[in-house]
Amino acid sequence: MLIAPGSNFTRQSLELARLLGAELIDVERKIFPDGEMYVRLKSLTGGAETVIVANSMYPNQDSSLLETLLLLNAAQKNGAKSIILVTPYLAYMRQDKIFLQGEPVSAEVVLNILSHGIKKGVVVDVHNPSLLEGKPWINLLVSDILVEGALKHVSKPVVIAPDKGALERAKYAAAKHGLDFDYLIKERDRVTGEVSIKPRSISVENRDVVIVDDIISTGGTLAEAARFLISQGARRVVVAATHGLLVGGALRKIRDAGISRVVLADTLGLIHEDPILEYVNIAPRLREAVEEVLRR
Ligand code: R5P
Repeated sequence: MLIAPGSNFTRQSLELARLLGAELIDVERKIFPDGEMYVRLKSLTGGAETVIVANSMYPNQDSSLLETLLLLNAAQKNGAKSIILVTPYLAYMRQDKIFLQGEPVSAEVVLNILSHGIKKGVVVDVHNPSLLEGKPWINLLVSDILVEGALKHVSKPVVIAPDKGALERAKYAAAKHGLDFDYLIKERDRVTGEVSIKPRSISVENRDVVIVDDIISTGGTLAEAARFLISQGARRVVVAATHGLLVGGALRKIRDAGISRVVLADTLGLIHEDPILEYVNIAPRLREAVEEVLRR
């Protein structure tokens, strides 16, 4: 088995190759003088049974999407008999429906173009898992191992999803650890992007809280949720989130809102260095998923 690592997943691909006993393909990359991208799977000679194309789509979403498509095509055209695509973070998944008249369903576009010619795609905690129905994809939930990391910093917490959409991942983690769970009612203004939280009948008074979410982008959702929970009497608020994009001043916003710890999955092409952050290695879960695909 061979792994073709994308630029955003080279470090994690090494670990995945070690766990799977696979070999890394030597990938040549360059940018032509006019700005176009070139890739070549240098050591893919004579075909292979299975090639895993592994990449993450953050940062540089657009170029990593294109790079992934080029790697897939290179594997297909150079004799791979079966291709498994491992993309722990898929970009554009939050535009999963038409919110305002005239918009595209970007998530559908991305999933459709990535699905051609693959045996299976493996994604980690996709924003809306129903998008994968009828498509050759596996969605891996990792909120259980993130909450496990968070449990070192709190005692008998309640697991809270900041909105109803995140409820399943919160419920999954809570069930694995025998914890209570609930969700908040969040509303986002589609035009201004402003988020507001409405109270729900949930008692966090004198309790520690682990907020579980899929993505931290600007940190606005978590900051609002934490402020609300603290106003309701929550003792300590920590976060277990899968994809920590942490754009702009997200970390400052999170800290200012009273969040004391953030546990993230190592799904991206970057690691943010900050004392309140810790990362969980998801390579063992990716290995399990790939082995499961190979068994089928
Ligand atoms: C929204 O539905 C997602 O699950 C996240 O809560 C959201 O994308 C986080 O974005 P931000 O950090 O910018 O509030």
